[in-house]
Amino acid sequence: MRKITAVEEMRAAAGETRKRGRTIGFVPTMGYLHGGHLSLVRESRKRAHTTVVSIFVNPLQFGPQEDFRRYPRDPGRDETLLEKAGVDFLFCPGDLDMYPEGFRTTVEVAGLQDRLCGRSRPGHFKGVATVVLKLFNIVRPDYAFFGQKDAQQAIILSRMAEDLNLDTKIEVLPTIREGDGLAISSRNIYLSPEERRSAPVLFRSLEEARRMFTEGERAAGPIREQMLRMIGNEALARVDYVEIVDIQTLEAVDRIEGDVLVAMAVIIGSTRLIDNIILEGKREQP
Ligand code: PAJ
Repeated sequence: MRKITAVEEMRAAAGETRKRGRTIGFVPTMGYLHGGHLSLVRESRKRAHTTVVSIFVNPLQFGPQEDFRRYPRDPGRDETLLEKAGVDFLFCPGDLDMYPEGFRTTVEVAGLQDRLCGRSRPGHFKGVATVVLKLFNIVRPDYAFFGQKDAQQAIILSRMAEDLNLDTKIEVLPTIREGDGLAISSRNIYLSPEERRSAPVLFRSLEEARRMFTEGERAAGPIREQMLRMIGNEALARVDYVEIVDIQTLEAVDRIEGDVLVAMAVIIGSTRLIDNIILEGKREQP
């Protein structure tokens, strides 16, 4: 594995790879790697000749009151894991490599960026879209791999790729979970043992939504209320949002007729966790 920090060196290495006729799979991350990240790496290794992983804790996607400074970092461990996973290039630029003095241009995906997580994290998705477009322009990957865990992020980036005619194909892969259903996340480390025991309530409420849907419920209201009740019964949990939305527009639906995203953010203690599932409602034939 070759580790690169300079933008121009990464651009040149990717360019040479392409010239040799080898396809590039790309996995952007903020490091502190876990099984979710590694599942994306495995898929990239299957789909493309060469795999590039980036590690960059992107200051632009953190709000002023958020955890940028204390976001967990362990570059030595990350490097060992990626080496073992058979990654070809590790790209870890510094803040000033990505945002030199005078940087002004940003990418916004209007509408989509302000819903769900965007409401309590203003500016977050602008930061994500901007850094991902920059990384795409440096690496110019054939494929880029993202997790369903961050559903809104994947939807926004797919929209950006289509709207801006990018030639990178966006692939979204399933959420990897702990044994009790908690979606794996770098932020799970913030949970105290007691909070960790409460955290599976997110997944349990999503499973309850799926159960109601499977048994024939198609009205969004009762499913949402039942989920809110379950989370309300968990002393350490406070709801940020629970929503049932159209998978393309992210607008709330009254009835589950097309594919919908059941998405939530719940604060456990002081840690904000997110999770989601897709329910595939069949539209009635005209
Ligand atoms: P990060 O949180 O490090 O996640 C990197 C990638 O791993 C994202 O595509 C995310 O959806 C995926 N991922 C995280 N947990 C997962 C899980 N349990 N199962 C499957 N995939 C999982 O998301 C970001 O970084 C940043 O916003 C980034 C896209 C790198 C831009 O800065």
